[in-house]
Amino acid sequence: MRVIIADSPEAVARMGAEQCIRLLQDKPAAVLGLATGSTPIALYAHLIQRRQQGEVSFRQVRTFNLDEYIGIAPQHPQSYRSFMQKQLFDHIDILPENTHIPSGMGDPMAESRAYEDKIHSAGGIDLQILGLGRNGHIGFNEPTSSLSSRTRAKTLTQETIRDNSRFFSADEEQPHLAITMGIGTILDARKVMLLAAGAAKADAVKAMVEGPISAMHPASALQMHPSALVIVDTEAASKLELIDYYRWVQSETLRVQGAYL
Ligand code: GLP
Repeated sequence: MRVIIADSPEAVARMGAEQCIRLLQDKPAAVLGLATGSTPIALYAHLIQRRQQGEVSFRQVRTFNLDEYIGIAPQHPQSYRSFMQKQLFDHIDILPENTHIPSGMGDPMAESRAYEDKIHSAGGIDLQILGLGRNGHIGFNEPTSSLSSRTRAKTLTQETIRDNSRFFSADEEQPHLAITMGIGTILDARKVMLLAAGAAKADAVKAMVEGPISAMHPASALQMHPSALVIVDTEAASKLELIDYYRWVQSETLRVQGAYL
């Protein structure tokens, strides 16, 4: 697992976007795994800007989102489909039929199997972008999720429901269930890149990077991935025991390569 410590949430987003752009420049028909939550919004803003400047195209790109609420129609303002349209898809040259988000409206078991098949038929995910829940969840794989799980329905923890309640107004019914790629599905991606910013994520970052691999902390499964990149700001990195080592690796990389990444 490679840990990059960036000076600010903005720098986290910029570095994350740079990784996506490099991939798309090398492989214009790449398959991207996308995430929702507040963290990747600034990364998506960078991608939009770079598209507008003509530096990158999404014309051949296919995307697979991690998750979707169950019982919410795609047109619902709080659906992850609406989120992705608003934060990214409506502003880039991606073909709508190439964007995939699990459907929260059909039979979850059939939808889950079909979603796994679609990822497989696309040749697998080249780069999976991830955020991090305060309890260590990735996608909606809550603590005690099987580390080899595949796409399926999950019941959200009350903590996650509370954390995400800021997106729902008081009179809106907030879903308690979601369909999510499994941890095994995420680990199958050729590269994974997790972004986290802010002091509220510091404990989760420490457990993910330095804790034991445990279903109690789903993100710790990324320790088993051969190409996992973690980009965090100084606040999210503040509890890492080996922080000086990660910074040292960073400066050595800069010295040898002329860039952090
Ligand atoms: C939701 C999403 C996760 C995301 C998490 C963190 O629960 N299902 O994929 O990582 O939120 O969100 P934020 O980036 O807003 O902290």
